[in-house]
Amino acid sequence: MKKSMANKFYITTPIYYVNASPHIGHSYTNIAADTLARYNRKMLGENNVWFLTGTDEHGQKIAKAAGEAKLSNHEFVDKVVVQFKELWGKLEISNDDFIRTTENRHIKTVQKALQIVYDKGDIYEGKYEGWYCTPCETFWPQTQITDKLCSDCKRQLEKISETNFFFRLSKYQDWLINYIKDTNIAGRINYIQPATRRNEVLGFLENNKLEDLCISRPKERLNWGIDLPFSSKHVTYVWFDALINYISAVGEFNAQNIYCSKWWDKDVMVAHLVGKDILRHHAIYWPIMLEALGIRQPDTIFAHGWWMINEDKMSKSRGNVVNPVEMADKFGIDVYRYFLLRDVPFGLDGNFSEDAIIKRFNGDLANDLGNLVYRTLTMVEKYYSGVIPELDIYQVKFDASGELLKQRLKDLQKAVYEEIGINNDFSLALEKIWEVIGIANKYVEETKPWNLIKDGKAEELKAFMRLLVDAIRKISDEIAPFMPKTAESISQQLGQKEIIKGNPLFPRIETKKK
Ligand code: MSP
Repeated sequence: MKKSMANKFYITTPIYYVNASPHIGHSYTNIAADTLARYNRKMLGENNVWFLTGTDEHGQKIAKAAGEAKLSNHEFVDKVVVQFKELWGKLEISNDDFIRTTENRHIKTVQKALQIVYDKGDIYEGKYEGWYCTPCETFWPQTQITDKLCSDCKRQLEKISETNFFFRLSKYQDWLINYIKDTNIAGRINYIQPATRRNEVLGFLENNKLEDLCISRPKERLNWGIDLPFSSKHVTYVWFDALINYISAVGEFNAQNIYCSKWWDKDVMVAHLVGKDILRHHAIYWPIMLEALGIRQPDTIFAHGWWMINEDKMSKSRGNVVNPVEMADKFGIDVYRYFLLRDVPFGLDGNFSEDAIIKRFNGDLANDLGNLVYRTLTMVEKYYSGVIPELDIYQVKFDASGELLKQRLKDLQKAVYEEIGINNDFSLALEKIWEVIGIANKYVEETKPWNLIKDGKAEELKAFMRLLVDAIRKISDEIAPFMPKTAESISQQLGQKEIIKGNPLFPRIETKKK
């Protein structure tokens, strides 16, 4: 959060195609969005955050998959959507709403939006002749392709010719260039993030002439879509349909065609998280759609990188998908969440491997966090029969390593805010927390509490113990958005006055030595 007047936060994920089961790439965006939602609930209050996810259920890709499954389109999407909902439940995703593009509330808003833009003259009828990529559902102008291959997925394009409806993107090109430039002044909100992606979009817009977007499909070719309100022969192009989900889920157009929503208002920070492959749709089509509809822009569109397997993108068509349910079952939900957010800076690509998870598990989780919690609780049990010593650490002068820990605890919330609140950098935020965990573990090792006992230093022992308990409480509070179950377990063990020690949080995973 960084918009000065915003006291509410609306966060969205892409809506996922239901042509196949979810994989770890999909779970990545939802875990990141969930972490931001939880973080902002903590900062702004429960009722000031709205977190939306959902499914993209129309279009050729889905109709094809339904046909292959020998089900009707409706039966097919109803079946696959369950897998997404179950996965989000399992991964502790705290979305407030789940939108499906086959729902009435969505269809109604898409049709209304189309009508408004059509009446305004920004949608017109024309003939399309050119290249089309079916898997990506994208038209490619001649100028943007080589060898008749899709510039995104590199698959063969089809040549098509048909009557369609077009949205005047070209009219808004200069407006968009200026808008992106104006909203990317240092110290202000960064509209497209990270900066590399913003430059990519700006570079594209400054060096290419935007062609108007074909926003319809003839029913004879595809009937699985939302009917155009002004043509009985066409359905809506799936991207024009899908992008509207961000507004159809949280509001409506009134009789004067003004869009009204509590979550798309002046005092709301609106953030879209997307993968880098769908940046063009979100940073070009969507802003122009909103502008044509007279609706304010989102504050941030953040494009993250891809999870790769052996340097290759994970996708169903490449046959290398990893199942998130399996990973969460094998390593634990929070371990999986931690790994995805910690291992790769948000925005860059990362290589997924079980070995990399195990390394993080045994290092950061078992040795660092798990050890700190377990050894602290063990000492409270051993030295104080489980009763947490009463004392205000800010009234005590510690030795150098104790003072360092005390200071870093005091600054921790701000340090985390600077990374996650300002830069969406989950990895650095976690690094800041883990630095404090490291300092706390070092403090135990240097203080050697058993010596304090031996030397009869009861007051020092008490302060030492309380500082550690406060450290764990604070750390647990900061990791809660990332690892909700772990934080809950730590606070259960660290009751108000007495501890209730459980098993170690992360028992080491033994790997076979080579
Ligand atoms: N339905 C569209 C989005 C419409 S939003 C108005 C779509 N769906 S998708 O299911 O194909 O992809 C959804 C998201 O998953 C995209 O943001 C995409 O980047 C992300 N991922 C798919 N594979 C991925 C990886 N291997 N790694 C990380 N994320 C990737 O596009």
